[in-house]
Amino acid sequence: MRIKLKVNNKTEEIDIEPHEILLDVLRKLGYYSVRRGCDTGMCGICTVLFDGKPIPSCSVFAARADGHEITTVEGLEDAKAFAKLLSEEGADQCGYCSPGLILNTVYLKKIGVKDLNKAKIKLIGNLCRCTGYESQHRAITKFLGVTK
Ligand code: FES
Ligand code: FES
Repeated sequence: MRIKLKVNNKTEEIDIEPHEILLDVLRKLGYYSVRRGCDTGMCGICTVLFDGKPIPSCSVFAARADGHEITTVEGLEDAKAFAKLLSEEGADQCGYCSPGLILNTVYLKKIGVKDLNKAKIKLIGNLCRCTGYESQHRAITKFLGVTK
């Protein structure tokens, strides 16, 4: 089957198999920031925005994206600002988890989250093997303008 979707505001058309998942199709289209981690919806590394909301792209059939809008970290305006904070706070060690964390954190900013505890709960599905999370939390605090 052939699907047509928008990725980062660019129209893409591609032939897919019915069983293919969105993660693999986005990578076939060249969006390599979308990475595979657990493949079970648990690690957050494969996160993309689907019509503006974060989802694990490993857990969605590509066919569902037909006619929808996908945003990856490459297409996100605020991504560079948050990536800079991650770097300044020492939270970009191997960087493998960064695209998923960036997408979810930028979404939290968009919906107005300014409470670090709320942010931590929302980001509980973004696993990181390197940082121990403290440096990420410092960057998130600055980026969201956390007030308490
Ligand atoms: S690879 Fe999709 S959530 Fe882990
Ligand atoms: S920085 Fe390496 S997994 Fe998060």
